[in-house]
This record gives sequence, structure tokens and C-alpha cells, in this order.
Amino acid sequence: MKRKNRAWVRVLLAVGVAGAGLIVSACGEEPIVPPPPAPPEYADQHMPAGYWSDPDIIEQGRQIFIGAENIDVNCASCHGKDGKPKKAGARDFRRTDQMKLYSDSVWFWRVSEGVKGTKMKPWKSKLSEDDRWKVIAYERTFGLKGMEYDVVKAAWVPVGTAGSASEDGAAEGGQADKAPVDGAGSEKGSPEETPQ
Ligand code: HEC
Repeated sequence: MKRKNRAWVRVLLAVGVAGAGLIVSACGEEPIVPPPPAPPEYADQHMPAGYWSDPDIIEQGRQIFIGAENIDVNCASCHGKDGKPKKAGARDFRRTDQMKLYSDSVWFWRVSEGVKGTKMKPWKSKLSEDDRWKVIAYERTFGLKGMEYDVVKAAWVPVGTAGSASEDGAAEGGQADKAPVDGAGSEKGSPEETPQ
């Protein structure tokens, strides 16, 4: 009897361990975590016009990313030349579902100021603003290739379609306060329905 019990325990343990293993390997990826909003001094910073779609800019961004411009700035040493992280914990830019949660402003803020308590340093002393935008234009090609950030819609959209937006006709004033609908006619309104 005792023996049998122990065998059972072992079976259960084995199943449990295997199960846990499966779960870990299936959901091994880190969960999707939205970044915090950009602080006020970055909230209005946006990708310069034309950069998302300019192959020269993107190529310059790639040179920065791989450390070819300045060996002290080598994003690829942690984030991987092909976007596959080399250092544990480095953000994986290939993960579209994660990266689409980053506005251009948040992205720029993080590159400028780094992420406290992690290996991601602030780069603003080593990269001009322009270079930071270029490297971002490149970094986004891993998971958001062909996309640009639409500031109005606050969403990633195909390159060339941002801004053209206002399907919802923006709030152009005017129309809104049309003459009040002749309010009076409350034939039904007030008197409580007297149940007969
Ligand atoms: C020494 C390793 C290292 C280097 C070099 C490095 N990073 Fe990072 N980076 C990290 C790590 C680690 C994280 C994840 C930080 C965290 O946990 O939020 C990160 C995160 C990021 C993020 C996302 C921040 C967030 O809020 O999720 C961006 C964008 C980024 N890096 C851009 C760059 C750029 C651009 C460069 C080069 C100029 C660069 N990194 C160089 C390690 C590095």
C-alpha cells in the first residue's frame, strides 16, 4: 500500500513538472507590458517629418544601432544586430504586440533617459536628438516594419497614412450648437402615470 502511494506521488510529480515545463515553454515569452506614459518634457516630442519612410535615415539609424558610427553606442551589443536580444532582459523589438504600445514619444524618452535599474542607459549625452530619432526609425523595423506612429490616432499605421486621418471629422466647432430643438413639447413628460 505504502509503496503504491509513493509511486503515485511520483507520477503526480512527474506530470506536474512536465506540465509546468510545458507552460513555461509555451508562454516563455515575457508578458506584454505597456510602457509608462512619457513624462511631460517628452510627451510632445515626435519623429521628424519624413523620417519613418526615408531609407537613408533608416540606414543611418542602423549604423548607429550597430555601433558603426560610434563604438560607445552599440545598441546591438544588447538588443542584437538582428533584433534578437543578446543580453537577458534587453527589450525585444521584434515583438510587435509589445512594441506597438510605444508611441514615438515614449520610445524617444526611453532612448534619451534609459530605464532606471536596468542595463538600458540614458543615451542623450552620446546621441544628438536627431540621431536618437534615426535609431528609433531603424529599431522599429524589427517589429513594426512599414509602419509609422500616427500621433493623432495614437496608433501605428502603415507608412504614409498617418495624419491624413480625420475620418471622424475632428471637432471643428460650429455645428455643435445648432438651434436647440424646440424643447417644449413634452406632452407626455411630467404627470406621473396614474395607474388607473
Ligand atoms: C548594455 C545593454 C544595452 C544597450 C547597449 C542598449 N540597451 Fe536598450 N535596453 C536594454 C535593456 C536591458 C532594456 C530593458 C529595460 C527594461 O527592463 O525596461 C532595454 C530597453 C530598451 C528600450 C525599451 C524601453 C522600455 O521602456 O521598454 C528601447 C527603446 C531601447 N532599449 C533602445 C536602445 C537603443 C536605441 C540603444 C542604443 C543607443 C540601446 N537600447 C542600447 C539594454 C541595452
